[in-house]
Amino acid sequence: MSEISDLASAEATDALRLVRQSTGRRFSAGLILGSGLGGLADMVENRIEIPFTELPGFPASGVSGHAGMMIAGDLAGLPVVLYSGRSHFYEQEDAAVMRRPIALMKALGCDMVVLTNSAGSLHPKMAPGSAMLITDHINFSGSNPLFRESSDRRFVGLTEAYDKSLRDRFDRIAERQSITLHHGVYMWFSGPSFETPAEINMARIVGADAVGMSTVPEAILARFFDMRVVALSAITNLAAGMTGQELSHDETKENAPKATEKLKALIGGVLEELART
Ligand code: HPA
Repeated sequence: MSEISDLASAEATDALRLVRQSTGRRFSAGLILGSGLGGLADMVENRIEIPFTELPGFPASGVSGHAGMMIAGDLAGLPVVLYSGRSHFYEQEDAAVMRRPIALMKALGCDMVVLTNSAGSLHPKMAPGSAMLITDHINFSGSNPLFRESSDRRFVGLTEAYDKSLRDRFDRIAERQSITLHHGVYMWFSGPSFETPAEINMARIVGADAVGMSTVPEAILARFFDMRVVALSAITNLAAGMTGQELSHDETKENAPKATEKLKALIGGVLEELART
């Protein structure tokens, strides 16, 4: 086992022991599902389920639409560890809040993660219900999940944070399934308040295509644990100031399912392909 796998196992400790009591399997991919995206979890077969509340060191997720459940099993034939629900920086003022769950994925054998989120679009043509493949990110939170990490591993390179070959796979599957898959830069705002129209103007100027409150710290942590990362946004709304209407979490939850169908099909297609190779 590699040094980084050993580190992940050491960090996952009791949570790893608990999962091992239920299954001796190794897993290939980790998935983290955002608001309203829990539906993907229904596709997992041969599953074991453990609530976050029973996994030592796991965060208690308190956002409605986020169930906080670990599900391990087969998705499209590939052994996966899936988190239905996540904790956010804004819940605990800790960008490393998902470090233990991500360490557990690595400790269970996952060498890649698929991150999903709900996001606001900066482009009228990338309307609610659209799917976006994240090509790069902008960290506008002022925080980093590797604050206080003391090893030199903290200097994680992010030149290609989102794995090009996995992105290409998603593009191929999207084309094959005739699903429009937008590409874009995701800008991480701390939340939990939504952005102001002025912040959205700034985001546009600095090169963002979508905004959200998650994913970036998880991508950084997954790169820290030497896992390949791919990330997808379910567009639930046009960003602040673009429609004349106020944003709400209810709108996020209401619109997520439209894009979820696309993400489900794309993720299912890619995992199925990976299971065969
Ligand atoms: N801003 C931030 N996070 C979000 C949004 C948004 O407009 N929509 C869904 N999550």
